[in-house]
Amino acid sequence: MRILAVASEAFPLVKTGGLADVAGALPLALERHGAHTTTLLPGFPKVMARAHSSGTTHQVWSWNDFYGGWAELIGAEVAGLDLLILNAPHLFDRPGGIYGNGAVDWPDNWRRFAAFSRAGADIAGGMLTGYKPDLVHVHDWQAALTLAYMRYGAANDVASVITVHNLAFQGQFGADIFGELGLPDDAMSIHGVEYYGGVGFLKAGLKAAWAITTVSPTYAQEICTPEGGMGLDGLLSSRSNALTGIVNGIDLEQWDPRTDRHLPQHFSADDLGARRGNRHAVEQRFALHRDDSLLLCLVSRLTWQKGIDVLVDCLDEIVSMGAKLALLGNGDPSFEAAFHAAAGRHPGRIGVVTGYDEALSHQITAGADAILVPSRFEPCGLTQLHGLRYGCLPIVTRTGGLADTIIDANEAALTAGVATGFQFQPLAHQPLINAVRRALHVHREPADWQGMQVQAMRSDVSWDHSAKCYIDVYRSLLRGTHG
Ligand code: ADP
Ligand code: GLC
Repeated sequence: MRILAVASEAFPLVKTGGLADVAGALPLALERHGAHTTTLLPGFPKVMARAHSSGTTHQVWSWNDFYGGWAELIGAEVAGLDLLILNAPHLFDRPGGIYGNGAVDWPDNWRRFAAFSRAGADIAGGMLTGYKPDLVHVHDWQAALTLAYMRYGAANDVASVITVHNLAFQGQFGADIFGELGLPDDAMSIHGVEYYGGVGFLKAGLKAAWAITTVSPTYAQEICTPEGGMGLDGLLSSRSNALTGIVNGIDLEQWDPRTDRHLPQHFSADDLGARRGNRHAVEQRFALHRDDSLLLCLVSRLTWQKGIDVLVDCLDEIVSMGAKLALLGNGDPSFEAAFHAAAGRHPGRIGVVTGYDEALSHQITAGADAILVPSRFEPCGLTQLHGLRYGCLPIVTRTGGLADTIIDANEAALTAGVATGFQFQPLAHQPLINAVRRALHVHREPADWQGMQVQAMRSDVSWDHSAKCYIDVYRSLLRGTHG
């Protein structure tokens, strides 16, 4: 089975969030089940640099004028990924973020990701000699227009899947861009790309996809409701037969406490005592007192989605209850400032690193006792899975993928020995505080805490089962039995 994946980021080439982890790991997992993925990426500076340093790049196509400038498609192989890269300097080669500069989106994002999607559709249609995918799998709004170009073009017979990683990002633009997309006039309708009077990239993809997946079963249900659907619940519930929730895995080689190159000390479920060296490293890095109190951590984008506003409100009380915190995150400057202010009020009890630091994210998870994931909504979430794998017990809101991946330490689960973390709902001050209190309570009994750590570390967070679920979706489309 030949899959063409279209994604705007993929680890280890370029990453702003979990989408990159998924796009980087899923192809390797699918390969083990006999499906070969070729991944189309935009030629962002980091992608081009990494591809060139692999020494495997070769041109497979070029355009003199592609959405306003010269462009080429490059083939490359990086970290086990079979890549096609759309090198279009006028669209992707610029300093700043890949989607914008600071908090401001690039004004030509519609053109950048329309061009990217168009390349995907052209490849799906057989533009490249010797390559025609059996199925196209696109991720999020940046790649979603691929499916509209396929549907209104030469590749409308090619099976397609769209995965929604986060419905909050929809790629909505004014109607005035429609004329430049190169789609036929009839595409500007409610059955095509039209969305609330403008053009909706994600909407267009959801409409055209043969199958829709999202990254957890609970989120699949949530997005069909007015509360969770962000305007797309009507469309999604009308397509609920075609919608599946498949939980993400994590890369078990990147996240292996026995071999992780980022860790000062390796450990395993059989040798939890060895975690101590990692704990000391975290205390040192975050200038925290060295003591045995509950050490909580956070590894997160600092945004409203992640519930950071509520966490900020809880910090003083968490410290007064006897816990300490190591906070790693970047994003909204007001949250970054609030974290630093809290660290200033509680030296030795709260430590903050603002920025993006992959190695430190591993070290924190290996050293802290528990990881906070107080998300307002969370399609899947990966940091709680990292927490499980490293015996850093997740304290999470009961929403989306957090609801699906953590077994709450209620009395029954504790007695049965199956608990892996602490859930609370709704996202608010008191429920969060209560969850931390429950964690403190269990933490006072080292045997109970270690029992939970071992149970957490035994959780299946691999890609194996999820890859099988994707294969099932692909097969049902190719057999014509889906939705
Ligand atoms: P989202 O994609 O919504 O941000 P996920 O939990 O799915 O949330 O994925 C976030 C990914 O980014 C994880 O791999 C996490 O470890 C990583 N991450 C988030 N913030 C940071 C940070 N400040 N430094 C390092 N890694 C981070
Ligand atoms: C999005 C979601 C996150 C999910 C990730 C990968 O960024 O916010 O919950 O884990 O995509 O699917």
